[in-house]
Amino acid sequence: MSVLSQHMVDKHGRHMRKLRISLLDACNLRCLYCMPERPVFMPQKDWASAKDLVHITRNLVALGIEEVRLTGGEPLMRRDFMEIVDELSTLPVQKFGLTTNALLLAPYLPLLQHTKLQQLNISLDSLDAENFMRITRRDAFETVMDAIFTAKTRGFAIKINAVIMKGVNDHELPAFVEWSATHDIPVRFLEVMNIGVMKSQFQERFLSAFDIKTMLEADYQFSRLNDKTDSTSRNFLVSNGAQIGFITSESNPFCTGCSRLRLTPKGQIRPCLFMQEGIDLKSLASEDYPEVLATIIAMKPIGRIPHQPQPMYQIGG
Ligand code: 5AD
Ligand code: SF4
Repeated sequence: MSVLSQHMVDKHGRHMRKLRISLLDACNLRCLYCMPERPVFMPQKDWASAKDLVHITRNLVALGIEEVRLTGGEPLMRRDFMEIVDELSTLPVQKFGLTTNALLLAPYLPLLQHTKLQQLNISLDSLDAENFMRITRRDAFETVMDAIFTAKTRGFAIKINAVIMKGVNDHELPAFVEWSATHDIPVRFLEVMNIGVMKSQFQERFLSAFDIKTMLEADYQFSRLNDKTDSTSRNFLVSNGAQIGFITSESNPFCTGCSRLRLTPKGQIRPCLFMQEGIDLKSLASEDYPEVLATIIAMKPIGRIPHQPQPMYQIGG
């Protein structure tokens, strides 16, 4: 470990190497588990500017952040998205990724191809156009599927994230396993989290990764792949050739191996998805970063905090 990166190690030995930047809270889908039908988004003037985001990220990278991921809401809805990506591409990060619903992705692919941003995590909760519409409340299935295949053809590293809910898309689990094998694209099944709009229907909809895997084991064998210790997913190679991961946010939170810091759309750094406390970095001078980071990292919980009053789309999925 380099001397500089010691700024990023907490008292439990967790190394903060990953930064998730939520660019905005707004989205062009209305996924059942994420948003109400009429969400209220923050005014655009509250978003940290591209310049601020780049300045903040440069400082954090200088102190040990190795991987950066842009999230939302839907990050591609920001008009200055390419400016942000181009600037962040000049930083010495090992991995640069984007979490997106892919609705606006296709036109960006030729531009992104020349940047450092090569990892695409695409949300796709159904392989069926009608069920996709039921879950996302928007008619966008074909657009999203076209973007996924175009991105694959263009050589981006793609992962599909599917949030699984009982009675909504659990009947599609085998179809996802077949689809992953056919298209050679890893699929990760996410446990739905008890947060935001899910709080009122969590008991009814929750399906654990263990239950998902048990259901699938009737037809498939799973062999465990070696994951990094700070990986949020447990990954498997399936007997049909599929690559399937499980993100056990509820049944087995990954706090003890957590290596993430979060930046909110307003430019506030937060120690954890489940904490509302944070520190505004927008006008912080570079020399003050080590002290502020020490404060933030010391706030990072070692186990799951039970209540997050803010919904997911405001903090960054
Ligand atoms: N449970 C699990 N994941 C969620 N997301 C949003 N709300 C939830 C929830 N209740 C995640 C999804 C989506 C990303 C933007 O946020 O993975 O892909
Ligand atoms: Fe948008 Fe993602 Fe939330 Fe769906 S889950 S509404 S795509 S932010």
